[in-house]
Amino acid sequence: MTYVAAIDQGTTSTRCILFDHDGSPVASAQREHTQVLPGPGWVEHDPREIWANTRDVVSQALTRAGVSASAIAAVGIANQRETTVVWDRRTGEPVYNAIVWQDTRTARIVRELGEPDRYREVTGLPLATYFAAPKAKWILDNVDGARARAERGELLLGTIDSWLLWNMTGGPDGGVHRTDVTNASRTLLMDLGTLSWDAAIAGELGIPLSMLPEIRPSAEVYGRARGSRVLDGVPIAAALGDQHAATFGQVCFEPGMAKNTYGTGNFVLLNTGERAAPSTNGLLTTVAYQIAGRPPAYALEGSIAVTGSLVQWLRDNLGLIDSAADVETLARTVDDNGGAYFVPAFSGLFAPHWRADARGALVGLTRYVNRGHLARAVLEATAFQVREVVDAMNADAGLELTELRADGGMVGNELLMQFQADLLGVPVVRPRITETTALGAAYAAGLAVGYWSGQDELSALWSEDKRWNPAMTPEARGRTLRQWHKAVQRSLDWADG
Ligand code: G3P
Repeated sequence: MTYVAAIDQGTTSTRCILFDHDGSPVASAQREHTQVLPGPGWVEHDPREIWANTRDVVSQALTRAGVSASAIAAVGIANQRETTVVWDRRTGEPVYNAIVWQDTRTARIVRELGEPDRYREVTGLPLATYFAAPKAKWILDNVDGARARAERGELLLGTIDSWLLWNMTGGPDGGVHRTDVTNASRTLLMDLGTLSWDAAIAGELGIPLSMLPEIRPSAEVYGRARGSRVLDGVPIAAALGDQHAATFGQVCFEPGMAKNTYGTGNFVLLNTGERAAPSTNGLLTTVAYQIAGRPPAYALEGSIAVTGSLVQWLRDNLGLIDSAADVETLARTVDDNGGAYFVPAFSGLFAPHWRADARGALVGLTRYVNRGHLARAVLEATAFQVREVVDAMNADAGLELTELRADGGMVGNELLMQFQADLLGVPVVRPRITETTALGAAYAAGLAVGYWSGQDELSALWSEDKRWNPAMTPEARGRTLRQWHKAVQRSLDWADG
């Protein structure tokens, strides 16, 4: 019996899950890492802690399955995207903490680079603090001696996939410095058409090309793990940004298929096939995935920064609930939001607004509003933001989404799922395996080594667990959406004022 392993290195934790040939999880392990918050809007991770946790969860998962590395046919990596690491190629020491995708310290760099759509045609992305290149520029500008060392060729730059891959393949002793097309498409440095680094943009940001990893397809053998006593000898056969991995795990292989992952943030990806569809409605154009030897599949993406992390905020900062799961119980103590709307613009607003200066707003309060209404407004905030990006997607793609495949931590929340279907006016569908991010990384790695025969076999493994059908009247939907849009306007006006 052999398995495929997936490493899911996310924003709050690192997981390893082993999957069998049916795509069912057989063992898993998870570890949270420290969120370093040095100031308002700043979010960092210690890359060494992430690497240590990765080794730890992989060996725990193997122990739990009662197998050794020889039972693993391949390993795939899915990772939090855009989070940026710069490290010394000789020692393996990061020169600074990883700057996390949520971090907004680069707002000035981004403003000074010019018009928001300046690089959109080449990269598919608006100029925003979200992406990797401004974070890399910040490190090179602000860490003593970093730019000179980078120019001497002493430093490497990568997203978390590259950091893990390099360490897993030997680190300073011949580690492989590569990234995949999906992660590269989130840097603001990759030409979406040629799938190569754009020297002109890198030049404008002062990022030496010698630091950058080689861009490869998402599903191909990058090298074998060696030297870290974790999975030694096992082919590392896939890397994908976590949202792209979830798209792969939801087998959204046909143009027009879309998934939404309900995690710390929410990310809706719509497969647009071999065509990189431009967005005029505030979405991103991105690579969905690429299997070696085949053309890439592209996607339109609606990225929402704060959804599940708003529930954590309710727990950690306000103490209104003891555990994230309690939010549903609290929300069910009331029939509706009591007039309260919560716009969680904690990292500004991402899609479709792209306003780093927007700030959180809780509006519509009267003395009637209680804890239950707040819990409800928190859950509804996720669904409203998803509705906004789905509207943008329908407008960009010129089609109407007919159903939404949902996955991620919040899909166990029945109240949210029903409200989401109500707001979208189309069914929301949950698959049997909701760990689609890890599953997608495993699928891509398994395909690359022939563990699975092809995408048709993977599509056949997908099955529906539950479906929520819309039950809200169009009038009620229209009314609540109007209130939401007014609340969003308050969040944007706060910045203007
Ligand atoms: O773009 C950021 C995204 O990849 C983060 O995903 O699941 O780690 O919050 P997650």
